[in-house]
Amino acid sequence: MPANHISKALMPNFNDIRFLQESLQLAHKGKGFCYPNPAVGSVIVNENQEIISVGFHQAAGKAHAEVNALKNLPNNYKTNSELTLYVTLEPCAHFGKTPPCVNAIIESKVISRVVYGYKDPNPNVLGKGADLLVNNNIECEYVSCKEIDIFYEPYKLWLKTQKPFITAKLAITLNGMIANHDSTPFKITGDIINKFTHQNRQSTDAILTTAETIISDNPKLNARIGDTHTKKKLYIIDRCLKLPEDANIFKTSSSLTVFYSKPISDSKKSLLCNKGCQLVEVSNSNKELDLKAIIAQIGKDGVHSLWVEAGGRLFASLLRQKLLQKAFIYIAPKWVNHGKIAFPNGFEVEKLPGKKAFRQYGEDVLCELTF
Ligand SMILES: NC(=O)c1ccc[n+]([C@@H]2O[C@H](COP(=O)([O-])OP(=O)(O)OC[C@H]3O[C@@H](n4cnc5c(N)ncnc54)[C@H](OP(=O)(O)O)[C@@H]3O)[C@@H](O)[C@H]2O)c1
Repeated sequence: MPANHISKALMPNFNDIRFLQESLQLAHKGKGFCYPNPAVGSVIVNENQEIISVGFHQAAGKAHAEVNALKNLPNNYKTNSELTLYVTLEPCAHFGKTPPCVNAIIESKVISRVVYGYKDPNPNVLGKGADLLVNNNIECEYVSCKEIDIFYEPYKLWLKTQKPFITAKLAITLNGMIANHDSTPFKITGDIINKFTHQNRQSTDAILTTAETIISDNPKLNARIGDTHTKKKLYIIDRCLKLPEDANIFKTSSSLTVFYSKPISDSKKSLLCNKGCQLVEVSNSNKELDLKAIIAQIGKDGVHSLWVEAGGRLFASLLRQKLLQKAFIYIAPKWVNHGKIAFPNGFEVEKLPGKKAFRQYGEDVLCELTF
């Protein structure tokens, strides 16, 4: 029997949007930890329009959002109930690392309606989850929600291209400097925008930097929010394997992959391998590694979103080769004489395609470029 689930894209119901937004808040908690799965959030609502249970997908291989929300239901709702389950993404109908979510919803016998905010572009799921629910007499509706569409952009891009959604950040002074002239760092931006950086590190699947930046700044590149320090998957461009052995990142990242180019001595390679790094050889021309090959490898690892934090050369290469989906230029109200200029060969930001938006974070201005 063909399923006739309803699409409510043109007639949104205020409560449906509200509960999908609540589900999205939960999905945000898993963002940056679920790859190669998408992050998903779910709430269950009773007939009085009260949220009685919540759940989100915490990591690949762990229970999905709907299953967690069902598990968290108070006992008095576990029988004889007619509840609505809201979920950011269409419930899956296939066996992956965990059983299909639609089975859990059907078997619970307490969900009479499911509302989801994104049609899963994964061909294993698209329409199948919704069809199965309808065929089991569970009303199923897709309700369009702009914030959810934006949330799943990296997932959609990755499914289509097998490449991550890339966002690069660069902080500059008013006169375009990124460091002191001898490459030593100085504090360019204020605490408010720095908090934004840590939130972005937290919610990204992985971070890309360069050995150049690690040698100059010895950054930790973890996400520090309050007292919580989260290690992230880190990729490093290091053509000649010059990473210092005592760099902080060996202790502060969850895994390390280094892109290099031949010829490199075996002793240099084994030194990094012994420190737990995965080494990936990449071709190089004019002393620059092939960025497209690097991005393809990162996508192959299942990474949907990549946050780039390095100096001006990598930032400019990514921009020139049109490899970015988003760029954040932080502009600080400082003027540094004899500093290290971000783009020594010049760069006309005005000539870049894409949308520009400006926001203020304390004293700093964020220029957001969307390509
Ligand atoms: N203000 C900020 O937001 C910020 C953030 C991070 C770092 N920094 C500062 O930035 C400075 C480093 O900046 P940088 O521009 O010199 O270096 P970078 O952009 O961090 O790294 C560039 C280096 O990566 C290597 N590379 C290999 N393939 C490449 C490719 N396809 N495209 C670009 N680079 C490639 C090259 O080194 P090899 O020739 O050795 O292969 C190149 O010199 C440091 O002083 C650091 O303090 C500032």
